[in-house]
Amino acid sequence: MHSPEIPEYLLNKHYNDRYFDVIDAFEEAKYIFIQGNNLIPRLSVMDSDQRVISIGETGFGAGRTLAALIDELNKSDLLDVKVNYNSVELHPLEARQMREILNQVKGCSPQIVNAILEHYSKIDITKSGWHSFSLLERFGSIDVNLWIGEALEMVQSLKYPLDAWFLDGHGPKQNPQMWRTELLSAIGRKTASGGTAATFTVAGQVRRDLTDAGFLVTRCSGIGAKKTVLQAKLIKNPGII
Ligand SMILES: C[S@@+](CC[C@H](N)C(=O)[O-])C[C@H]1O[C@@H](n2cnc3c(N)ncnc32)[C@H](O)[C@@H]1O
Repeated sequence: MHSPEIPEYLLNKHYNDRYFDVIDAFEEAKYIFIQGNNLIPRLSVMDSDQRVISIGETGFGAGRTLAALIDELNKSDLLDVKVNYNSVELHPLEARQMREILNQVKGCSPQIVNAILEHYSKIDITKSGWHSFSLLERFGSIDVNLWIGEALEMVQSLKYPLDAWFLDGHGPKQNPQMWRTELLSAIGRKTASGGTAATFTVAGQVRRDLTDAGFLVTRCSGIGAKKTVLQAKLIKNPGII
């Protein structure tokens, strides 16, 4: 029996938890993950012929954070940006479920939903491993690589360390698997020197494991119901990937 206040379409029954709160979903994603990783300022100081950034996400869900990133980049002054977006999902949603959720997200434009779903709907979600598609947007291009399967497998299969991470795998109480030491440590090894990570949880174990993985972890003021959130910066990649 799930909490009566979570509408059926928003419930991830595997974790008895909502994907996110649709009312503030866009603002929340932009604040916690995009601002939390300082993405727009980082891209703004890059030369226009080198505006490339690689991002990892643990928990693709309904693609809300991907949609929020596209929206935020389109609304910025940035052009010629190349984003390499690597995400993972153990329990992929059907395209129609994803549309049902994204349609309710305040601020999420139908154009962005259609662009993502045009490609996502062609993915064989029963097949594990990498699935890729590319989108051309006002800001530039985004290559989306989605691993269907478990998060640690996805991190281990990355060929190089990434610049920024969106850690979004339900709370550690509902889903300890997504916050296990082994996974956070692997994420540290797959983060470039000076790379960052951001998440909504400030749980002590997550802070300690990110610190042990080589990140400088800071608790920052939160948004909405989240009083505090985490931002983390990797000082130096350990060189063992
Ligand atoms: C909070 S939701 C992510 C929301 C998503 N970032 C969005 O913006 O739509 C967390 C997602 O992580 C997935 N997940 C949970 N444990 C996982 C694991 N061990 N490996 C891969 N995905 C997992 C869940 O099925 C769920 O879709």
